[in-house]
Amino acid sequence: MPTLMNVVGARPQFIKAGPVSRALAKAGVKEILVDTGQHYDELMTDVIMKDVGLREPDFNLGVGSAPHGLQTARILEGLEVLIQDVQPDAVLSYGDTNSTLAAALASAKLGVFTAHVEAGLRSFNRAMPEELNRVATDHISDLLLAPTETAVKNLGREGLLSRTVMTGDVMVDALLSIRFDVVELPSWATGDYYAATIHRPSNTDDPARVGAVMESLNRLDLPVHLMAHPRLQARLVEFDLRIEDGALHLHDPLSYGQMLAVVKASRGLLTDSGGLQKEAFILEVPCATIRDETEWPETLEGGWNVLAGSDLDRLAQQVVRAPRPVDSAPFGDGMASGRVVDEVIRHIS
Ligand code: UD1
Repeated sequence: MPTLMNVVGARPQFIKAGPVSRALAKAGVKEILVDTGQHYDELMTDVIMKDVGLREPDFNLGVGSAPHGLQTARILEGLEVLIQDVQPDAVLSYGDTNSTLAAALASAKLGVFTAHVEAGLRSFNRAMPEELNRVATDHISDLLLAPTETAVKNLGREGLLSRTVMTGDVMVDALLSIRFDVVELPSWATGDYYAATIHRPSNTDDPARVGAVMESLNRLDLPVHLMAHPRLQARLVEFDLRIEDGALHLHDPLSYGQMLAVVKASRGLLTDSGGLQKEAFILEVPCATIRDETEWPETLEGGWNVLAGSDLDRLAQQVVRAPRPVDSAPFGDGMASGRVVDEVIRHIS
């Protein structure tokens, strides 16, 4: 029986690894689950893990917050020792965080088979730390598991097609496992409102920019319920920005199921998250992305998503639209995790 090391660390990775972990169990593969500890607040970790059915990790490296180089280095140091101890047949990394890059690098350098789930996404913006993580991870991994045709094309352009397999998006598997009929909405989620999240460094780390984004949300025509990532909460305190004097209401991060239910019941979503743009598309909720580019161009089809990073004054018009219905399901059929596991097993057998 092969042993596979699943490396997670930040909130979106718990969501992606949930269905893959279940598929591993179904296939009889021994899974070693490693949490790097990049995210550590309960609302960003335990609550989400429980929600997506991820079990207690076997190891937690407890790296916490640090500048990028140091955080990546700490994960690399911890994983190198762990991979040598455990001797897995393969290591799986997810997405585009510092945990992703460190997992791929530690594993590839030790000559262990390295697979990247959600390979091939590109924003073509090298100022994003995630873009550097994606490009580097794809180039050092042995197997690139791509969620979309666009991702396959991106990998082809970089000469990586021979290592690429299109599996569909494991986040669709996670979304489809949510029972919306039993999820309880927060008490404030009534009537017409917009849902919002902001966490990218480009929108949070400069006081003028974060102030402008908050001001534009405050001016919208309906209540805006913003689930604030700890990074945003910290910056608002640091910059002494008082913002709840208009449409805007701040809340702590929600569980995965609640977040999706809040988006589903909203009139529109305003976000800079990659995952949520796609979830809004699948849930048929109009989205305005507060960025100038997207790794998920499929969401722009039919007008479901609009890039509104540099036009904050027109945010209201951007989100109140009547998108065209689209037939396509560009993110897959909800069975991507089974394909991910099959492909990894096929490659290491
Ligand atoms: C990371 C990922 C990003 C992903 C996001 C999801 C990288 C480069 N970025 O960004 O791709 O979309 O996770 O949330 O890996 N903090 C806490 N508690 C926590 C987590 C974070 O207080 O549990 C605060 C700290 O102030 C920390 C800051 O948020 O310094 C940033 O956290 P970090 O993990 O470095 O990156 P994210 O912004 O969360």
